[in-house]
Amino acid sequence: MGALPLFPEQASTFAPVVDHLLYFLLAVTVFFTVLIFSAIFYFAIRYRRRSEQELPPEIHGGLTLEIVWSAIPFGLTMVMFTWGASIFFRESLPPNDAIPINVVAKQWMWKLQHVEGQREINELHIPVGRPVKLTMTSEDVIHSFFVPAFRTKEDVVPGRYSTTWFQPTKAGKYHLFCAEYCGTNHSGMIGWIYVMEPQDYETWLSGRPAGSSLLASGERLFEDLACNNCHKPDNSGRGPSLVGLFGGAVRLTSGATVKVDEGYIRRCILNPTAAAPVGYGPDMPAFQGLVTEEEILQLIEYIKSLAQRPATAPGQGGGAQLTTAPALGVGQQTPAR
Ligand code: CUA
Repeated sequence: MGALPLFPEQASTFAPVVDHLLYFLLAVTVFFTVLIFSAIFYFAIRYRRRSEQELPPEIHGGLTLEIVWSAIPFGLTMVMFTWGASIFFRESLPPNDAIPINVVAKQWMWKLQHVEGQREINELHIPVGRPVKLTMTSEDVIHSFFVPAFRTKEDVVPGRYSTTWFQPTKAGKYHLFCAEYCGTNHSGMIGWIYVMEPQDYETWLSGRPAGSSLLASGERLFEDLACNNCHKPDNSGRGPSLVGLFGGAVRLTSGATVKVDEGYIRRCILNPTAAAPVGYGPDMPAFQGLVTEEEILQLIEYIKSLAQRPATAPGQGGGAQLTTAPALGVGQQTPAR
């Protein structure tokens, strides 16, 4: 079907999977449309009223018929549901070895950053055959990251992170669209995904002025914002130590236990009073409006790296209610859902 201009090129592992489901839905729809319209015309002619005096016999329904027309659609819709849900779950769970890319959308552009530090605007260079995980947020309104050739479409929502992933199967240049109306220049919020052969990608990556990596930027920011004054690695500061935190769990004042993921760290930075664990919060200033979405992603990258470091002194500093139990190495790849 790739040759049919109705369908975009298939350039990711999801593309054939999504297309097969679509073909199935189309086939079922066409079959029943033809069946129902044929029946309408056939019955209209076959049982037409032939004289003014004609009165049809009264019919009280047929149990067998009713069971058949309930059971068959039920079976078909369950097939659609389980098939669709299984694809949805696969698309929702990025594999652990995926290349992480941060995406910040704003009216009207896509800002992308590689962990090595390279920034791109309305362009993304990735290698063929490797899974790529996107962590996305928006600075203003809802946008939607849409690459038809990958059959990937995911909303990019202000105030939270959404993630998606794909694995390109063919080198080439593919359209990136914004698929959610986001204002005057929504139609101009477009770009290109460049899928490159692995060696070309390495050349591209090393040939770009990287500046500093996400991790290094995050670490510098952590000091510039004086986070390190309170969040000391040995837990002796006014805030909890962040060593070993990411990927674990913390108890909140509300009694709830939450997983420490990208979204939780983001909430703590922007509104610590509401999000901090039991025993902490009021001391920490809110950074809402003081850090950009890109800076928050850099800080998160640094905090993730702390999960892999052994704590210098695991003892509790002052009434901490941290129930951290992170396995070493899980922090980096925890899906943010
Ligand atoms: Cu961004 Cu439409």
